[in-house]
Amino acid sequence: MSNVSKKPRGVFISGNWKMYNGQSETAGFFKELRAKWNESLSKPTLDAIKAKNIRAMVIPPNISLEKALESARGLPVEVGAQNVHWEKNGAFTGEISGPMLKEIGINTALVAHSERRQYFGETDETANKRLESLLKQGIQVIFCLGETKTEREAGQTEKVLLKQLDSGLPKPGSEGANFLDGRLVIAYEPVWAIGTGLTATPQQAEEAHQFIRKYLWDRFGMAASAKTQILYGGSVKPDNILALLECPNIDGGLVGGASLKPESFLALLEGAGKTLT
Ligand code: PGA
Repeated sequence: MSNVSKKPRGVFISGNWKMYNGQSETAGFFKELRAKWNESLSKPTLDAIKAKNIRAMVIPPNISLEKALESARGLPVEVGAQNVHWEKNGAFTGEISGPMLKEIGINTALVAHSERRQYFGETDETANKRLESLLKQGIQVIFCLGETKTEREAGQTEKVLLKQLDSGLPKPGSEGANFLDGRLVIAYEPVWAIGTGLTATPQQAEEAHQFIRKYLWDRFGMAASAKTQILYGGSVKPDNILALLECPNIDGGLVGGASLKPESFLALLEGAGKTLT
């Protein structure tokens, strides 16, 4: 018997491909995914995906976006973008905009991934500009935040999350706050766990997720807090996803390495299915 109420917001599995999977690899991924879909996923998982209690997404590099959309046709796998400028157009060499994404049928984007913060000058301020602008344009945002190893070891995790939330999210009562109605997804990604094989323990992750949930409640009220999905990211793998998703405030995963191969992506979806049944 299904027990969907265990996950009132459903489960969202999103694969951040980073700078992997060009067009031919993207086509190959979906060809294999399609071939293995029915044999790899159990009936309860397939039913949960059909009922939209599990949402599946891949987030390829820009050059592979259209190939992913085309190759995913007919499969319940959405496609999102990794980074988008806040302006709708302009002299911003190397950037893409919200309207450009919407034109090809993409309605979700990552904002402020730690690799953008670390290597490409993303700040709390630019993250906020991006987030508010995209939400206003009707693009769903997956807003990433998390502490470094040094910050965790110095006992500053909550302080860092608080600062990232305070500066990244719209101000309470502002126009932007109206968009916190489920359109915003938050991804807690401790920097020390990304691509390192070190996963936060379910307890460490749940503590951070509870902190974020409470923050949303205090600043934006019960409805925003209850509707916002909070994903965990940082070395999520098929063998640890179940324990993470069993935590009440973990609503899914933002997964890098383990989302690149169809077999492992399917195993993540199957893990998600297990938490609902
Ligand atoms: P990882 O990446 O799963 O390879 O640790 C997660 C992310 O950066 O989103």
